[in-house]
Amino acid sequence: MDVKIANTTQSTLNKFPQKDKSNLIQILQAVQEKDDFLSPEAIGSISKHLRVSRSYIFGVATFYSQFKFNPPGRHSIRICLGTACHVQGGDFLLNVLTSELDITTGETTEDGKFDLDRVACLGCCALAPVVKIDNTIHSRMSVVKLKEILDGYE
Ligand code: FES
Repeated sequence: MDVKIANTTQSTLNKFPQKDKSNLIQILQAVQEKDDFLSPEAIGSISKHLRVSRSYIFGVATFYSQFKFNPPGRHSIRICLGTACHVQGGDFLLNVLTSELDITTGETTEDGKFDLDRVACLGCCALAPVVKIDNTIHSRMSVVKLKEILDGYE
């Protein structure tokens, strides 16, 4: 996997001039689009290409929520923490998820099954609290319902 990442990162980097850090955001977006996330190896390659430190790149990338630093899981869980879902217990459901999966938002389970992230609103506030897994919206979630759904992915 590292070789694939290094190759795709290099082919992406070749489209941008060296030592020009004004392209950093575009480069990060292009690399993530190809690799699905920003690996430490990709950050290293970008660092060499632009002649800027890894910490500078991390500093910029972590400012934007669009950038991911872990590979996606086979199933993506998005917990809604918008106002309606928050009021209906979205935070509590997030705590259950982090405890059940042993990861926090932005991370992927060790077995690669699930990745977890929070979203501001899924556009179906009347059905709060809402959790989206892959392309399925699960409405009016409860802890029991959530655990049953997760068990369905075992
Ligand atoms: S706040 Fe959760 S769907 Fe709108």
